[in-house]
Amino acid sequence: MMEEDFHILIVDDEQETAEYMSTLLEIRGYTTSWAYSGQEALEMLTAINQQEDDQHPIDLVILDVRLPDLDGYEVCRRIKSDETLRHVSVIMVTALHSTGDKTRGLDLGADDYITKPFQPEELLARVRAVLRIRQMEREARQRAIELERSQAQLIQVEKLAAMGRLAASIAHELNNPLQAIQNCLHLVLRRSLPEDKKRQYLEMAQEEVERLIGIVQGMLEFYRPSKGQRASVQVNTIVENVLALAAKQLQHGHVTVHQRLRPDLPALQAVSDQLKQVFLNIVINAVEAMPEGGDLYIVTDLTPDGRWVTISFTDTGVGLSPEEQANIFEPFYTTKSKGTGLGLSVSYGIIERHGGNIEVQSKLGQGSRFIVKLPVHPPDQSRPASL
Ligand SMILES: Nc1ncnc2c1ncn2[C@@H]1O[C@H](COP(=O)(O)OP(=O)(O)OP(=O)(O)O)[C@@H](O)[C@H]1O
Ligand SMILES: [Mg+2]
Repeated sequence: MMEEDFHILIVDDEQETAEYMSTLLEIRGYTTSWAYSGQEALEMLTAINQQEDDQHPIDLVILDVRLPDLDGYEVCRRIKSDETLRHVSVIMVTALHSTGDKTRGLDLGADDYITKPFQPEELLARVRAVLRIRQMEREARQRAIELERSQAQLIQVEKLAAMGRLAASIAHELNNPLQAIQNCLHLVLRRSLPEDKKRQYLEMAQEEVERLIGIVQGMLEFYRPSKGQRASVQVNTIVENVLALAAKQLQHGHVTVHQRLRPDLPALQAVSDQLKQVFLNIVINAVEAMPEGGDLYIVTDLTPDGRWVTISFTDTGVGLSPEEQANIFEPFYTTKSKGTGLGLSVSYGIIERHGGNIEVQSKLGQGSRFIVKLPVHPPDQSRPASL
């Protein structure tokens, strides 16, 4: 500990005592100042500690209890009740012998006390002890500030990296269909092709345009999901609506649906269209994961504590490796030639904004289970009802 780093204010109406203390302390490398009265001490503290000038702020006040104006206890009380001064350490100097008077200062927030007459070693030992604690606090504060700063930097770096990744993947996603369209148009324009060939190329170009539109729409939903009002919704009804919407795909894909919908589920405060979008994404993904057909089990339930409604979708499809599971919620992650890879990332955002979460359990080759968990009482119901 560098002793000269500390500034000590001695408050005593006896100049002799003050000078004696000052000498003792300055020999040890401390900086000292002297105040004659309580009022003067408070004024000095305010002037030195609240102004951002070069003067080293006062770290410790050695405060005599008997002062001509305010008594030392009152000065201590004012220091400790002032937001800008309360961190200044205080050692009370008392000539009184009763324990009650000695400890009164401690009750008021003083850090230690010493009785007059004192031995120089005793004074120095107490000053050192109080300042050691102060030094530790200073270091802890410094470490906390540094930690906060490096965390903020890390988050910033992560954000930039995520944005960079996103920009790169958007460019890549848009580039592929654009290249294909360019090739198709080039072929149609430059070559004397039979009409039916030209038509075929134009149809290919049109397919790619549709793909582009799909990507752009998905991106828009990703950043600015369709506005919706929260209302009281029945999860089972939404599941049934989604199954009706997906009926054709389920039938074509030879997927048999098995439902076990719990009849007494509480109504949820949610945006019905958004939940529909999530469930539809999951159901279509399941159909696409079962190219040879299979079974899709849909179960709605309430957790035993009554706080969450769960909706699980279990398929008997191709399943996911651990690496795939780590990526499927990333925007643009897809293993499908015609997928945008936005379905699950959009779904994830929607469920998160509803205060819930999506979990995946899967083994490669053995099917997958997606579990959506929604809170019965969303934590932020006091906020505006739109999501
Ligand atoms: N039930 C499932 N079984 C196996 N893999 C799945 C399942 N659901 C999703 N996946 C994997 O996660 C990837 C990402 O899914 P997501 O819904 O985000 O995009 P996508 O289905 O590929 O594209 P889009 O939803 O735009 O059609 C899929 O490409 C697929 O590899
Ligand atoms: Mg999908």
